[in-house]
Amino acid sequence: MKAIAYTRFGDADVMSLQELPDPLIGPDHVLVDVRAAGVNPVDCKVRAGYLQGLLPHHLPLIPGWDVAGVVRSVGVGVYDWKPGDEVLAYARKDHVQFGTCAESVSVPDRMIARKPSTVDFVTAAALPLAGLTALQSLKVVGAGSGDVVLVHAAAGGVGHLQVQIARELGASRVIGTASPRNHEFVRSLGAEPVAYGDALVDAVAELVGGDGLVDAVVDNAGGLAFDQSLQLVRDRARMTSIVDGARARENGVVNTWARPDAGQTQWLVDLVAAGKLRVEVLQTFPLAEAVKAHRLLEGGHVRGKVVLTV
Ligand SMILES: NC(=O)c1ccc[n+]([C@@H]2O[C@H](COP(=O)([O-])OP(=O)(O)OC[C@H]3O[C@@H](n4cnc5c(N)ncnc54)[C@H](OP(=O)(O)O)[C@@H]3O)[C@@H](O)[C@H]2O)c1
Repeated sequence: MKAIAYTRFGDADVMSLQELPDPLIGPDHVLVDVRAAGVNPVDCKVRAGYLQGLLPHHLPLIPGWDVAGVVRSVGVGVYDWKPGDEVLAYARKDHVQFGTCAESVSVPDRMIARKPSTVDFVTAAALPLAGLTALQSLKVVGAGSGDVVLVHAAAGGVGHLQVQIARELGASRVIGTASPRNHEFVRSLGAEPVAYGDALVDAVAELVGGDGLVDAVVDNAGGLAFDQSLQLVRDRARMTSIVDGARARENGVVNTWARPDAGQTQWLVDLVAAGKLRVEVLQTFPLAEAVKAHRLLEGGHVRGKVVLTV
């Protein structure tokens, strides 16, 4: 099969399209013919070698943790899936090597959700990692009925879904940080936009009124946004960071690290099919142009998601 792969860590140029053996599947795995693979900032961090302390890596490495495609075959212990089924998954395994930027990928069946026929492959591939991160981080902070929730980087892959999911969970107001060019986009998702930067604490306080504090915060940006969040949240137990693990621990804040979850993935994609969750895809690239996709993401200003088509 053709796959994007690399044999050393480094910048985007280490990646190339290669001919590699088809994946082997274990008893509880499903072999998926990839139609689309979502690209996430973590793919760039893995490629740069930054995550080697967190989980085992093996070279040559095929990047990619998001997939939408069609089941080709199933392992002997798989009962819920059959060839021809259209599926999607956040397919992060315990060891990083055989990712989704390939013509086919082996995925544990516990990670797989069914793709509704009304949701296209590109949209489905853009959803799992970012959607699960959005949902799981909102659960960590207990976002729900009547809450005022602050979402940093609200125009990004995770943030644009988080804003909508927070409203779906019952939040009465969502305030989303973004640069001014993204304010209309953030507003269209159901949030009140505010510019990030030095003036953020005052701007949020003015928006919310009263004591100037919010009920819950999800930090998708880190750095200054993390510090400002500490000042803006009423109770630190209702703040999480998906970016700044070390700072979170130092400050008694939970760091969210998204886990594959088939049930939650199904809930998310069903919400998309019901027209209640919009997945914004800024750009698609053919598999062979994965280098361009990584470079675009590393620019740090993608609106929504970037997806590779296979
Ligand atoms: N812990 C986990 O499980 C987990 C899961 C997913 C992602 N992450 C991490 O979370 C971060 C966000 O992921 P993502 O997929 O949403 O990234 P992304 O799509 O690349 O985020 C891009 C967005 O960030 C915004 N942005 C840039 N600088 C900002 C700042 N200083 N303050 C606020 N917003 C800013 C940009 O908005 P403008 O263009 O308007 O500036 C852009 O829309 C990444 O570091 C990623 O690795 C962690």
